[in-house]
Amino acid sequence: MTDEPKPEDILEGKNRESVRNSVPPLQVINETRFLENDLGKVLLEIYELKKATLEDLASSVELPQSKIKRNVSELRKQGYLGVNFDDSTKIYYVRSDWSTQEFPSGPIIPLVYQYNLLSDESRMEALHEAIEHTIDEGDVVADLGAGVGFLSCLASELAEKVYAVEIDREVYEEGKKIVEQEGIDNIEYIRGDAREIELPEEVDVVLCELLDTGLIAELQVPVMNYAIEEFSKTELQTVPHDARTSIQLIEADYEFYGNEFRIPHFEEYDSRESETRSKELTYHEVSFQENNSELVEKRIELEANVDGIVNGIQINTDVRFAPDMEYTGASPWLNPPLNLPFDRDLAVEAGETITVDITYELGGGLSNIVYSIVD
Ligand SMILES: C[S@@+](CC[C@H](N)C(=O)[O-])C[C@H]1O[C@@H](n2cnc3c(N)ncnc32)[C@H](O)[C@@H]1O
Repeated sequence: MTDEPKPEDILEGKNRESVRNSVPPLQVINETRFLENDLGKVLLEIYELKKATLEDLASSVELPQSKIKRNVSELRKQGYLGVNFDDSTKIYYVRSDWSTQEFPSGPIIPLVYQYNLLSDESRMEALHEAIEHTIDEGDVVADLGAGVGFLSCLASELAEKVYAVEIDREVYEEGKKIVEQEGIDNIEYIRGDAREIELPEEVDVVLCELLDTGLIAELQVPVMNYAIEEFSKTELQTVPHDARTSIQLIEADYEFYGNEFRIPHFEEYDSRESETRSKELTYHEVSFQENNSELVEKRIELEANVDGIVNGIQINTDVRFAPDMEYTGASPWLNPPLNLPFDRDLAVEAGETITVDITYELGGGLSNIVYSIVD
């Protein structure tokens, strides 16, 4: 007999203890808004308990036992819950595969988009310049979220050793192959989650391009928080160095052939441009040399600067890749403007203030943004 896990065990979660629960809390909370008949209440309780039997739920959820049972079975049917067995007792947990993990809503960038990343000239130039400014000969470098290894390859020309960490299997295989084909022998490709990887030595520089607009979908902040704790006893040099995020009122055109589609979208990818209706206000700044809070929770007052219609907000993030460089703004593959629609048009006069509440967990995915107009 061997203790090797069977594929069906892993699929059904019997070895789940070792797997990180990757559904961020705000994403679960957001999801409950779409679940009827107290399904959300039961889902949240199981998420909070991490694992729960029907008996556990009966003592913690204020619902009749028969309803809890019906809800658990409905949540199972809809794919939110997995089950483990302890003898014949069923233990439920929240599965992670219903939540979006892939670009652009989540952090994984599949192989097919890696060429697009490489083709974005303004992004590539900024990263190239930052590497030249930051890495000294003989440094040990960690490239976290290495993709197919572009940053690692550049870094390897200066550094003594580069550890390239990539989570996606296909992207990792491709990166490893490219490094071998190029004959670069000081890059070690590691497949794993940069939030929990252990390296065999201390590093001098961390490269980490897990950036996205607002730092919401990708794991820039959680990964950097981990890196500064784990990878060096002294101060780390980081690329990027810092980032700032701003918000402004907009009027966007949601009408297509007579119907309205008020959908969050990245402006750089479509052919329509929204109109700005207020000044841009910086509401969130991070320096990647410090440990940063992973929760953003803001009430923001935005003053309309024209008479007209306001029907959404736009989020923009600028990044400074090295302290002596200029901020790099939006390009198609680096922090394109993110438009978040309001559910209605507001007629405003110049000077009028619109107050917006916005909350999200950094790295929690685009579906974990909660925002509303404060009436
Ligand atoms: C924006 S791409 C950058 C790729 C490359 N560094 C570059 O600049 O061209 C980010 C990469 O990080 C990977 N990634 C996302 N989350 C990760 C994690 N937790 N650990 C390791 N890699 C991750 C993605 O799959 C993707 O390949």
